[in-house]
Amino acid sequence: MKLADRARRIAPSATMAVDAKAKEMQGAGINVVSFGAGEPDFPTPPHVKEAASRAISANFTKYTPVGGIPELREAIAQRLKEDDRLDYRPEQIVVGNGAKDICFSICQVLLQAGDEAIIPAPYWVSYAEQVALADARPVIVPTREESGFKISAAQLDAAITGQTRLVILNSPCNPTGAVYTAAELRALGEVLERHPEVMLLTDEIYKKIAYGDDGRAPSAAAVLAHLAEQVILVDGASKAYSMTGWRIGFAAGPAPLMAAMRNLQSHSTSGAASISQKAAVAAFAGDQGEVERMRREFQRRRDTIVAALNAMPGFRCSVPGGAFYAFPNVQGALGRTYRGSRVDTSLDLATYLLEEAHVAVTHGEAFGAPGYLRLSYATSLEHIDEGMRRMANALAARHVGASA
Ligand SMILES: Cc1ncc(COP(=O)(O)O)c(C=O)c1O
Repeated sequence: MKLADRARRIAPSATMAVDAKAKEMQGAGINVVSFGAGEPDFPTPPHVKEAASRAISANFTKYTPVGGIPELREAIAQRLKEDDRLDYRPEQIVVGNGAKDICFSICQVLLQAGDEAIIPAPYWVSYAEQVALADARPVIVPTREESGFKISAAQLDAAITGQTRLVILNSPCNPTGAVYTAAELRALGEVLERHPEVMLLTDEIYKKIAYGDDGRAPSAAAVLAHLAEQVILVDGASKAYSMTGWRIGFAAGPAPLMAAMRNLQSHSTSGAASISQKAAVAAFAGDQGEVERMRREFQRRRDTIVAALNAMPGFRCSVPGGAFYAFPNVQGALGRTYRGSRVDTSLDLATYLLEEAHVAVTHGEAFGAPGYLRLSYATSLEHIDEGMRRMANALAARHVGASA
């Protein structure tokens, strides 16, 4: 069968592939400890589930207005105001099927052939694919571990050309856990201010999972409120409220862009599920205590996994400031043979760990960062201990040289 060029250009999501392989092995009866999935292991909070049950009982099971039900857009606007003193009118908010769908729509309505979108690496796997699917060119700007995996204002300035239409920023970052300070965001904003034709997509889906003093990461949309015409805020219910399967994400930004996204949605998905939207109202408008409880638990897990990773031979892991990923530099563990398996790249290492230790991790290549691994610590301390024990064992069996 002849597929469209577009379809042949898409690389499958590596993180989902790792997770699928781990689940397949589990299905075959193998006890796999998975650090692959980017989703909280906690149940969705009870008051959210009850709101969904009520929606079903009340037959709230029909098509909803494109862009999301007014009640949900109102609840989101209110949450943004309370959390970050952001001022969005409900018509400046579009609800979609998860932040992934929202990012995809933004690329579709904003980008076209000849355009460039700047993406700092390491980056979340879908950005580059979504930019390419909109026929534009992803311009990957590498960042360094020494600068906390953050793009500087000078780097951003140098990357902007006459073709640049979009910059994608993700803080806290998947996969590095990097969190931009307000001062760093302001410096990036100064560059953007000189380029009013360039839009900023700020993906703040991990904003409430951060480990600084106030437990939250600064919102670029809030810090750059004076650039509101250039800023598109993306967030959702998946991570902070442990609602990955409900598929609720949203964008907040300039009204004409939101109108274009609603048009697109009217011909693509017709919007998020009615029941999920009612559940999300409860998440955004209801008690936020569960969010804080989960954040504290993530912090305990982060401290445990980072300490264990730093004790692995050849690993070096900086302490992530947010999200729920550890991103160790594993270059010191490469170029060796372990139990007969030659391991030269972080992809080789991830494959070895899955096959030999039954531990699933994602290779850095998937995020534009060879030489690193990503481990999601959105899993219990018990699993983390067991996974680290298995990894330490597998890595202890190493030999230097090609023919050991
Ligand atoms: C940085 C980032 N943005 C967006 C998403 C997508 O989230 P959603 O489940 O809302 O589609 C993810 C999920 O892994 C993510 O890591």
